[in-house]
Amino acid sequence: MIDAKQFVEKTVLELKEQLGSDRVVLGLSGGVDSTVTAMLIHRAVGNQLTCIFVNHGLLRKNEFTDVLEHYKVLGLNVKGIDASQRFYTDLAGVCDPEQKRKIIGRDFVEVFSEEAKKIEGAKWLAQGTIYPDVIESKNAKGQVIKSHHNVGGLPEQLHLSLCEPLKSLYKDEVREVGRALGLDESFIGRHPFPGPGLGVRILGDITPEKVHILQEADDIFIRILREEGLYDKIWQAGAILLSTVHTVGVRDNSRTYEHPVALRAVHSTNAMTAEWVDIPYEVLKKVSNEIITKVKGVNRVCYDISMKPPATIEWE
Ligand code: XMP
Repeated sequence: MIDAKQFVEKTVLELKEQLGSDRVVLGLSGGVDSTVTAMLIHRAVGNQLTCIFVNHGLLRKNEFTDVLEHYKVLGLNVKGIDASQRFYTDLAGVCDPEQKRKIIGRDFVEVFSEEAKKIEGAKWLAQGTIYPDVIESKNAKGQVIKSHHNVGGLPEQLHLSLCEPLKSLYKDEVREVGRALGLDESFIGRHPFPGPGLGVRILGDITPEKVHILQEADDIFIRILREEGLYDKIWQAGAILLSTVHTVGVRDNSRTYEHPVALRAVHSTNAMTAEWVDIPYEVLKKVSNEIITKVKGVNRVCYDISMKPPATIEWE
């Protein structure tokens, strides 16, 4: 484990040196990695940094507005862009996981680039890339495991130099750095969330309706984990909409033919390996009952008991 205070001091000095009086653009995702990157750079060069927060329509319930507000409170110079419709249009009918990831990545690059180009004289693109992102994008044989969209695309498109101050750190180290920078514990404790968002948690094609269903189910799961005091003990949790599957159920004496939702909660230290969490049955029961009674479109809930490897944390 690194010494976070020393890391901040050293990195801020290096960033001052590296960036000088140049303007920097950074994409905020709502996650700890990009936020810590922004805070480090903001500390080094202040408002020479402009942040862009793109809503791809695949965020959690209310996340875009809540997080945008939080960034403003942190004093970051941030612009929020709601591009949901564009992503939904381009994703319509696409079922293949890698293709979905590629479309989300490409659209993100395009939307972000359009905004970034409006920032006159920008020389640098900062990214919250961390060590596992770099190595997980390719295995030892150079094969792509999953296309992590935050490790490519943007620099080529924008002709900006890349600034990635967290590239050598694991997630737990990034959190320590966040603490050293005075970031709120509630923000630091946020579970990791993939760049392509709910797009990799909806099996099959993505529609705004499916996103809405998943947001509601996920929100119930996460809220109950918080209420039960479990959220902070878990590395990452979320719901997955198995929308390629239909199951038969019964509601108000009528047959339903809807989708199952899978719940995923894992313990990990760096996302390279993960163990499923032994959530008490009573809690699972509460989550399941609330989801199947309140979320229209879902009539069955399963709990994912797969470790990584051989499974991965995300389903796609
Ligand atoms: P997997 O599913 O590969 O996930 O076990 C490992 C960790 O990485 C996150 N993840 C991503 N993060 N862009 C990201 O920024 C991505 O494309 C992406 N895909 C997976 C995942 O949520 C987990 O924390």
